[in-house]
Amino acid sequence: MSTATKIPRHIAIIMDGNGRWAENKGYLRTRGHQEGAKRVDEITTACVEMGVKHLTLYAFSTENWLRPKTEVSVLMRLLVHHLKTMDKKLIKNGVSLAAKGSLDKLPQRVQQELHRVIKKTHLENPKMTLTLCLSYGAREEITDAVRKIALNVEAGTLNHADITEAMISASLYQPGVPDPDLLIRTGGEYRVSNFLLWQIAYSEFYVTPVYWPDFRAEEVQKAVEEFSRRERRFGKTTNQIKNSHPELPA
Ligand code: FPP
Repeated sequence: MSTATKIPRHIAIIMDGNGRWAENKGYLRTRGHQEGAKRVDEITTACVEMGVKHLTLYAFSTENWLRPKTEVSVLMRLLVHHLKTMDKKLIKNGVSLAAKGSLDKLPQRVQQELHRVIKKTHLENPKMTLTLCLSYGAREEITDAVRKIALNVEAGTLNHADITEAMISASLYQPGVPDPDLLIRTGGEYRVSNFLLWQIAYSEFYVTPVYWPDFRAEEVQKAVEEFSRRERRFGKTTNQIKNSHPELPA
């Protein structure tokens, strides 16, 4: 059980290290993805139990399409297989599924399962929303947002001088979802890898050497406990934070 006093509203995770976990054990890399898929359920449950409202997982990036064809195809099959049983567990936990990225680039069978589970787990007021980033790249997301805004400028309904940060946030794939408070990367690399570049401006970063297949419930609790001890200043000083009631989450 976590003893954290401050629970992040939104946790985003770069699930890394599946391949190295498998290779270190003398298995094929794909075995690491299979084991990693099990952690998705476990970490989802742990986050709901801690009271997290949004969990966003980087499951497949725009760059991952460049991996060997066999690995991509195993990952796609694994997704379909996992989605087939995921709905029951999500419903039991009061979790709604969402997905973001260039979903139309995914194989038809992945798209079908994904949309089936999204529809089946839809709730007006879920305990938590689990978002899978699939065929996702943050630069692509920002580029798409810029295109949407440019259309309004082109149509004459928006003056370029009136473009605001809030407008850009609202033009991203998931308007209304708060920015991540905590960004976790497993597998020990200190990189952002084209993940949520706009949204992580003020996220706390937690990197662990633990590979994703070994990232159990206790590990996410540990990350939240560390988050709970950090002071978020959003560019202000410690005194300002103590003496004011900032509109941003403390
Ligand atoms: C990174 O590890 C992980 C991925 C590219 C895929 C993540 C996929 C899963 C956790 C399983 C399927 C997901 C769901 C939602 C069921 P890596 O292969 O880059 O590891 P490495 O850095 O050690 O090579």
